[in-house]
Amino acid sequence: MTTPIRHATATAQPNIALVKYWGKRDDALNLPAAGSLSITLDALHTRTHVRFDDTLTADDIALNGRHDATQSRKLGAFLDLFRARAGITTRAHIESGNDFPTGAGLASSASGFAALAIAVDHALGLNLDQRELSILARRGSGSAARSIFGGFVEMAAGTRDDGEDAFATPLLEAAAWPLEVVIAITAREKKTVSSRAGMDRTRQTSPYYRDWIAAVPADLAAARAAVRSRDFESLARTGEASCLAMHAVMLSARPGLIYWNAATVGCIQCIRELQRGGTGVFFTIDAGPQVKAVCLPDHAARVVEALRGVAGVEDVLPSGLGAGARVVEADA
Ligand code: DP6
Repeated sequence: MTTPIRHATATAQPNIALVKYWGKRDDALNLPAAGSLSITLDALHTRTHVRFDDTLTADDIALNGRHDATQSRKLGAFLDLFRARAGITTRAHIESGNDFPTGAGLASSASGFAALAIAVDHALGLNLDQRELSILARRGSGSAARSIFGGFVEMAAGTRDDGEDAFATPLLEAAAWPLEVVIAITAREKKTVSSRAGMDRTRQTSPYYRDWIAAVPADLAAARAAVRSRDFESLARTGEASCLAMHAVMLSARPGLIYWNAATVGCIQCIRELQRGGTGVFFTIDAGPQVKAVCLPDHAARVVEALRGVAGVEDVLPSGLGAGARVVEADA
């Protein structure tokens, strides 16, 4: 079957989990072992252009201007999910770029797969709804299921073996509670253990893995209630607890996973000091050394200033909360 050559460009932003996802119940379908809750950012972007081309014999994929065989295989398999839905085998040119460091704990896979899902859906004219797009984005990366939506988002673990109930839903739009996030960049290198490999090692080897997973629903309920009532103190308590519990279970893997550096700890101490002085701020950290300080809008300038002063902090990026993944250009 031949397809008309179709193009689309989509953009998506990373999200930061406040209740963390770290562990899978199924590797093949990439099903999370527990739910998670996140905020989508507005200052960092992935932009992805897709063009299906009947003359291609293989997908042609460039990420930040580079062709990488491993990434291309992974993205090709992701594209196959959409090709199967469309009943085609046509290969595609893909160009995707981030305006922030890739693979350093800034959730580039979240915005990457969300943007790709939206662009491919549009280019192939599939018109999938957001639930289906979230399910498909999850196949690329668990956190990508959340970047389909803006503002505050909850991801369901689901219980079905086919994963059709493991998708994200929006909880509260960004404008309804416009928190700020200040990202302290403490290293620019790509991390040495990917989230996927780290989660697998944790599940296989940590004696605390089951307890970690069992504790997530209570944190989710507390964070969901805090978001609904705009209770910053409560969200701060739950957010820090979930982050530290995730890093505790990472540390307890064998060999232990240490994603932090000295400046990461410096930022945590700085944020604790700000809290003692009455600043509305809390920290969260993913599978990398960057620290994300979530703060009340009026307190963001103070947090930027303080984090800039921490030894080893290379840059500080302030961000508001933003929108979900969307098409920005299409020429069918
Ligand atoms: C620490 O979504 O990158 O950022 O599903 O294997 O692609 P895969 O993992 P990924 O993991 C994110 C882990 C985290 C926590 C979170 O975002 O919830």
